[in-house]
Amino acid sequence: MGAESRIANRVGQIGKSAIHEMTRLSSQIDDVAFLSWAKPTSDTPQHIKAGAIKAIQDGRVGGYSTPAGLLPLREEIVTKLRRDNDVNAEVSEVLVTVGAVEGLAAAVLAVIDPGDEVILPTPTYSTHIQQVTIASGKPVLVPLIEAEDFRLDIAAIKEAITPRTKALMYCSPSNPTGTVFSEAELRQLAEIALENNLMIITDEAYEYFVFDGNRHFSIGSIPEMKGHAISCYTFTKTYAMTGWRVGYLHAAEDVIPQITKAHIPMAICAPVVSQYAALAALQGPQDCVAEFRQKYLAAREVMCERLDRVADFFTYVKPGGSYLMFPRILRADGAQDATAFCKALLQDAHVSTTPGIAFGPTGEGHLRISFCVPEEMIHKAFDRIEAYV
Ligand SMILES: Cc1ncc(COP(=O)(O)O)c(C=O)c1O
Repeated sequence: MGAESRIANRVGQIGKSAIHEMTRLSSQIDDVAFLSWAKPTSDTPQHIKAGAIKAIQDGRVGGYSTPAGLLPLREEIVTKLRRDNDVNAEVSEVLVTVGAVEGLAAAVLAVIDPGDEVILPTPTYSTHIQQVTIASGKPVLVPLIEAEDFRLDIAAIKEAITPRTKALMYCSPSNPTGTVFSEAELRQLAEIALENNLMIITDEAYEYFVFDGNRHFSIGSIPEMKGHAISCYTFTKTYAMTGWRVGYLHAAEDVIPQITKAHIPMAICAPVVSQYAALAALQGPQDCVAEFRQKYLAAREVMCERLDRVADFFTYVKPGGSYLMFPRILRADGAQDATAFCKALLQDAHVSTTPGIAFGPTGEGHLRISFCVPEEMIHKAFDRIEAYV
């Protein structure tokens, strides 16, 4: 008998990750133009590495930190949350996590009982859907309004609420669409949460990468949301620290110990060497963040120009944030199967993209492409796409 019968349904029902599948298929092909990953290709800035190296040399990284994270790091996080997010945070309200993802997972486990419903505006970061599934919760996918630049459908969200609804989970700026939900939209969401006694779990991984006058708004900055918001952040995108695996979350003081009960069995604490790197990131010069933002903005322009040249084959919403976009494939035959399209594009044109279905059913018919790559990579990919289509 295969191992399946000995595997829990909570993981058994999760399909293969389309992103990892495209990476696997890409590895079998030479000279791929790679637009699949939402991972910064820049290296971590030197002063951040130096902070980690010094901590190693001083013998400070061999043990665990407290589960909540190093105190000086949490103090710097509080300063950042007050300065940049308008969140009136205290050290006792911060938990350092293994990237945003472990914080999100711990938050979901702390909030969701089996069968509880979590509303997710989709398309969304597929990891959120999986986290709800692993907690034996029920993801309730509410489509964004694509015709209005992937805005939140507030009326549909209200309609989706049932007595089993426990939480709402979103990322803004959004992976995969690049939408920055406005303050007005998020205030409406906060009202819904307060009226229905829900928790809102946010993923603010791309908070610093917003363009065209968009402003990142943290729902945790609304005073009434205390106890109703768990806000997850990360060093991964802001400081190009993907592999360091360090992030943090903010929640009410009495919620933090409950999330910590889920955090400890999964992680004990975030990697201590990475916590020192994160400390150096927050204490050091912030020019690198502005430079990354400028680089992504320039790359977004290049990608949009190249997409405009194949306007018969793709329509798109110009992303207001993140470094991702989500064009719709216009097929003469009306076919919607983005997975088949992505696989063919990889096999025949050697361009790696991610099929939109990976981000929920409303993602079907789309590709997710990433512009956190060198501009030459965008040109190489689109020279091939132009020839292909
Ligand atoms: C929306 C979003 N959240 C979280 C992450 C991962 O964050 P971390 O590396 O901090 O776990 C990603 C990475 O692609 C992402 O797109």
